[in-house]
Amino acid sequence: MTGAVGGFVPPVYPYDRLDDFRASAAGLEGGAIDCSIGTPFDPPPAAVIEALSTSGAERGYPPSIGTLEYRTAAADWMARQLGVTIDPVTAIGACIGTKEFVAGTPHYLKLRDPSRDTVLYPAVSYPSYAMGATLAGCRAVPVPVDEGWRIDLSAIDQADADRALCLWVNTPGNPAGGLDDLAAAAAWGRANGVPVLSDECYVEFTWDGPARTILSSGSDGVLAVHSLSKRSNLAGTRAGFYAGDVDLVHFLREIRKHGGCLVPGPVQAAAVAAWRDQAHVDEMRRTYHDRLELGIELFARLGIEAHMPQGGFYLWVAAPDGDAWALTKMLAERTGVIVSPGEFYGPQGAGHVRLAVVQPLESLQRAVDRLT
Ligand SMILES: Cc1ncc(COP(=O)(O)O)c(C=O)c1O
Repeated sequence: MTGAVGGFVPPVYPYDRLDDFRASAAGLEGGAIDCSIGTPFDPPPAAVIEALSTSGAERGYPPSIGTLEYRTAAADWMARQLGVTIDPVTAIGACIGTKEFVAGTPHYLKLRDPSRDTVLYPAVSYPSYAMGATLAGCRAVPVPVDEGWRIDLSAIDQADADRALCLWVNTPGNPAGGLDDLAAAAAWGRANGVPVLSDECYVEFTWDGPARTILSSGSDGVLAVHSLSKRSNLAGTRAGFYAGDVDLVHFLREIRKHGGCLVPGPVQAAAVAAWRDQAHVDEMRRTYHDRLELGIELFARLGIEAHMPQGGFYLWVAAPDGDAWALTKMLAERTGVIVSPGEFYGPQGAGHVRLAVVQPLESLQRAVDRLT
């Protein structure tokens, strides 16, 4: 059966467009080294797996907003690592990882305020911000980024601000690793009456200065959005939360209850164990930093300059002559490394590639060795 003429046709999933490169890299001895998708490779802590399998929480329905233990563990983590106080009773809700929250929230905000129809997001960014607008039948309006890949709030058209359901910011940023001025974003949102949704899923991998959250500027009109996928190598279990403005949290918690958004009970128990532990995060910080340095060396061997990002676990590298697809092909054929062409993250990213350091050091070393 086909859809109605003019109906929504989901675009090809970007990473599926790399299959030919994967096939050519697979032909090298030792195989392909897939650094395209930012999917963690390393194991989560044993205590998390233990909690996942022994919670006894699989029988009954879990609370959509998260158990009080879940919300408290998340709030305690934010107090410990980010220095902000959040009330776990009123100011936090659970989400099933954060992609569903990113893709689904514009739809809910549109129900809350049907007079608005626009989602603002950084022009070079995680594609789900724009997709969330599309899925809500809204306008996806990219906000330009500056030379440091930070969102340029001064470039927002007042007419778009007046129609905006929300502004997304992402710090550290995917793909370019920039750090936004979150206080300025919060102030812009308050001045314009636009909720600011701050995606902070890479916060533990901030390299340049202390980790930052938008909640340091107060919670009025803003939400911080967090995930255990990257922090604790739990992308497969799907656990995250949103925290901040109590009215917004209340609305989203209620509507998400009706929508059946439930983090499975055993996953909630595992998440509590993950937030309580910091040692595994410290270890991952060292691991990612080492891999980023080796990635920079890989590009240097090719005569291409790459720099340590301000945060995150991606290298964002300008392609020679701005031809990202040519660099992607060359890397796959000569080194076996699969990267993502920057256009996946918006037209302004087209001259770059993104390398996710999610493969072990030995694999990245194999890529370097293939060049010698
Ligand atoms: C910026 C950003 N936000 C959100 C996500 C979603 O992660 P998850 O749904 O696993 O929490 C990702 C995943 O790559 C991301 O890069």
